[in-house]
Amino acid sequence: MTDEFAAVFDWNDPALMTVFDEAPLWSAIFGQVLLEHVPLAPGLTVLDLACGAGFPLLDLAQRLGPDCRACGLDTWLNGLWRARFKQVALGIKQVALIGGDGAAMPFAAGSFDLIVSNLGINNFADAHSVLRECARVLRPGGRLALTTNLRGHMSEFYTVYADVLQEAGRADLLPALEAHIAGRTTVAAACALLEEAGLRVTDVYEQTFSLRYVDGSALLRHSFIRMAFLEGWREFLPPGEAVAILRRLEAALNRLAAREGELRLTVPLAYLESVKG
Ligand SMILES: C[S@@+](CC[C@H](N)C(=O)[O-])C[C@H]1O[C@@H](n2cnc3c(N)ncnc32)[C@H](O)[C@@H]1O
Repeated sequence: MTDEFAAVFDWNDPALMTVFDEAPLWSAIFGQVLLEHVPLAPGLTVLDLACGAGFPLLDLAQRLGPDCRACGLDTWLNGLWRARFKQVALGIKQVALIGGDGAAMPFAAGSFDLIVSNLGINNFADAHSVLRECARVLRPGGRLALTTNLRGHMSEFYTVYADVLQEAGRADLLPALEAHIAGRTTVAAACALLEEAGLRVTDVYEQTFSLRYVDGSALLRHSFIRMAFLEGWREFLPPGEAVAILRRLEAALNRLAAREGELRLTVPLAYLESVKG
């Protein structure tokens, strides 16, 4: 059976990197919220943890001005290569890019006034260790400002997915789907992680936005969905049945879109700011 839902993108493909800036329209929404709330002050030393291809690092560094010192850290070296390309092209001098793991940062204690992280916490394999490292490398009184999507993300999609598994006679896969859904954090859980790491939460801002598609076929073939989500949606399906189940899912999403006029997926997000006591 042909697998039209196969992941065909390699995050380290040089050709993909040249067009990558079309992809993070997703992270732009979270980054706008972060940039709207993050505290600004002259002369800050700031770390963008999990800066990816340089967002919001390069924008924030420019908003803070030439007297700030900004550093981007990420494990994704090709992302940093792309960030460096943009940094040079844009002539932004006050930025350093460093490859490294947030769970073992190559910085001395108390190095930063501010850490930002846009969509980092929901991607860290060991968020607890990363947040403890944040507390270590922040100076006393320093702040961590982060954004994340929340449980409830794309609930319309997951409701259809659960129905499809039932109808396909694979209710036994529902616990795996539930576990996948529960993998997203809540505001309470994220606050607890921050407090456990020694960071006191001072500001929580929540909002939702919608991702809109003409139907399920458009959703499941969208390049960013295939890069960032599709693998997670299929990883608990038995390999021999995955394509058939995804085709059923596509048809069910198309029926929903036909009834509603479009496929609209709700994404709840949070901005959390905390301070090192
Ligand atoms: C969704 S992307 C967000 C990138 C960027 N901040 C943006 O908003 O476009 C998540 C990033 O987290 C990075 N990442 C995941 N685990 C990491 C870790 N332990 N240490 C540093 N970066 C990590 C990934 O390499 C990826 O660039």
